[in-house]
Amino acid sequence: MTAPLAAPAPAALAAERAAAMIVPIAEDMRALDALIRQRLDSDVALIRTISDYIIGAGGKRLRPAVLLLVARALGARGALPHLLAAVIEFIHTATLLHDDVVDESDLRRGRPTAHSIFGNAASVLVGDFLYSRAFQLMVEAGSMRVMGILADATNRIAEGEVLQLLNIHDPTVDEARYLRVVERKTATLFEAAAVVGAVIANAPPPLEDACRRYGAAIGVAFQIVDDILDYSGQVKDIGKRLGDDLREGKVTLPLIYALRHATAAQRRSIEQAIRDGGGDFAEIAHVIRMTGALEYSHARAAQQARLAQRAAQTLPPSVFRESLLQLCQLAIERDR
Ligand code: IPE
Ligand code: IPE
Ligand code: MG
Ligand code: MG
Repeated sequence: MTAPLAAPAPAALAAERAAAMIVPIAEDMRALDALIRQRLDSDVALIRTISDYIIGAGGKRLRPAVLLLVARALGARGALPHLLAAVIEFIHTATLLHDDVVDESDLRRGRPTAHSIFGNAASVLVGDFLYSRAFQLMVEAGSMRVMGILADATNRIAEGEVLQLLNIHDPTVDEARYLRVVERKTATLFEAAAVVGAVIANAPPPLEDACRRYGAAIGVAFQIVDDILDYSGQVKDIGKRLGDDLREGKVTLPLIYALRHATAAQRRSIEQAIRDGGGDFAEIAHVIRMTGALEYSHARAAQQARLAQRAAQTLPPSVFRESLLQLCQLAIERDR
């Protein structure tokens, strides 16, 4: 039986749970941090400056945590998981550098985005540096299977970002088209993190498959919540500007639901905002709240979190599995 997911917890409680979730891999996370800093080296000063700038601002490190928890839950030993967790975080950071240029976002991790300080060209190129550094580390890991998984994942993420570009400014984007983008641009990396964790633990195919389902579902839940927070979060918590999605005409789940349930006049103003990339954020955020779009989106995220929970429950019991289960809850009740 799958335990029911409790109602959203207050922010302080969520932060406490996030800290508790990491406890079994505290040592691993420290080793990961050291490795990340060590492997950012380059004799090109600007590369160091920009990568220190974005990595020094923190980040939740959820994807590497998934890899480490899965690997340890399935019995992997030694330092190989650190190397691959660093690969995952480098790929993630590269996508953020590129994403902020494409999305024209000006705040990330509570700081002005790298492109707003160093320029678009420098951000894109340092993103490329991080991607290629990730591939160098992967080669060091020496597993053809792992390289295949991560090469496919980075390729799919790029597809997701391009697919999203095609959906921009298009008010006819529906839930299915939205989910296709989310599965690729976000869930793919969570899925790869979980599968790589299983592969380096030499897990049998059914367990590897459970990890795949876990990562994919938690990734979708995670992105839906990100899209909710873009309308309803606090800048001080999310470290990003609210309304980025609306400003660039990005059609996310809260907006899709609101469009279906708004009055004719509201609908026209949302469609206009999507086409123009803008509109009155306060007014549209109000419509989103009034139509129940946030609750609906949260329920969809919770559904995915339950799928992830069911998949994790097939792993052998351990403190690491407990953390993977806690992460299902955290992915949907987070405020940052
Ligand atoms: C941001 O991911 C990009 C999305 C997929 C929504 P995170 O929210 O995990 O970013 P950091 O690493 O914690 O800053
Ligand atoms: C996630 O989408 C982007 C990536 C997977 C790189 P968003 O555009 O919503 O992410 P944020 O909100 O900028 O972090
Ligand atoms: Mg973005
Ligand atoms: Mg977002």
